[in-house]
Amino acid sequence: MSKILVLNGPNLNLLGLREPDIYGTTTLQELENNLSANAPSGIALAFFQSNHEGQMIDRIHRVMDEPVDGIVINPGAWTHTSVALRDALSAVAAPFVEVHISNVHAREPFRHHSHLSNIALAVIVGCGMQGYTFALETLNQRLKS
Ligand code: DQA
Repeated sequence: MSKILVLNGPNLNLLGLREPDIYGTTTLQELENNLSANAPSGIALAFFQSNHEGQMIDRIHRVMDEPVDGIVINPGAWTHTSVALRDALSAVAAPFVEVHISNVHAREPFRHHSHLSNIALAVIVGCGMQGYTFALETLNQRLKS
């Protein structure tokens, strides 16, 4: 059994309520339930969301002490601001896929740069909630190869 950690950054606890025209009407709980119910066989999922950068970094550090084979992360606004988050993801060995629900490249210029993308296994933008499923499939293929 492989373990994949699904991480969501700031404000993503408000999915379903927050700017539904951009992020849709599915809540974070519904997303997590749906991912668990449809995870590829042989994959166990664990979830974590935080609005606090230090808590997210501490959670990523714990990957060094547990059998986590891959990470799916929607870093929210930290994508565009956090060298510390990039350093944490670099520090742990697990490959990660960066997900953005919206097409950040079609939005404000400050959303066009990511501190994470060039160390990610893959980046999925603008596919809505399906992006998380695509990320899991990408990691699953990678873990099988
Ligand atoms: C986001 C895009 C970010 O720019 C934004 O700050 C978010 C969500 C997305 O999923 O589209 O919080 O990561």
